[in-house]
Amino acid sequence: MSTTLHTAPRRDFLFYSTGAVGAVATGAAGWPLIDSMNPSADVIALSSIQVDISGLTVGSQLTVEWRGKPVFIRFRTESEIAEAQAEDVSALPDTIARNLNVSDASVAIDANRAVADRPEFLVMIGVCTHLGCVPIGDGAGDFGGWYCPCHGSHYDTSGRIRRGPAPENLHIPKLELSDDSILTLG
Ligand code: FES
Repeated sequence: MSTTLHTAPRRDFLFYSTGAVGAVATGAAGWPLIDSMNPSADVIALSSIQVDISGLTVGSQLTVEWRGKPVFIRFRTESEIAEAQAEDVSALPDTIARNLNVSDASVAIDANRAVADRPEFLVMIGVCTHLGCVPIGDGAGDFGGWYCPCHGSHYDTSGRIRRGPAPENLHIPKLELSDDSILTLG
């Protein structure tokens, strides 16, 4: 099943529930509960969703709910990509990619964070790695990416933590993007 979504105007936070997550995300206690329950493989498979992102435009972000968590889907601008690629990873607070689509040891260069072969797209779990707030996007914070106002964590245009108490880069879920812009999460 694919879901047609609408792009969010800059600085608007669009929280879009796909309706495909009900099998797993059943309540407000959603995501920590799910993590601790360690769902079986068949439950995980059922909770995969497909999102049509063909309507996304440069510089916009879409947020969908998946397994009880927000997922940010960002169509980055040329300058956002250039900034993300130019960064010296060795100097970052977290040098690990945190991307389930690459090996655990992969470093946090932008190529290990963006969607494979589609550097304009960045897809991340929208949960601050400090204490779990949902960061603000669309160029927020001192590094032009995302900002978590709860305790002041700044993420860059690759979703990497740059300043503040968050210990890790924003996490990237298992995903696949088809040629006709259908994004599969999970
Ligand atoms: S929860 Fe984001 S900075 Fe604390």
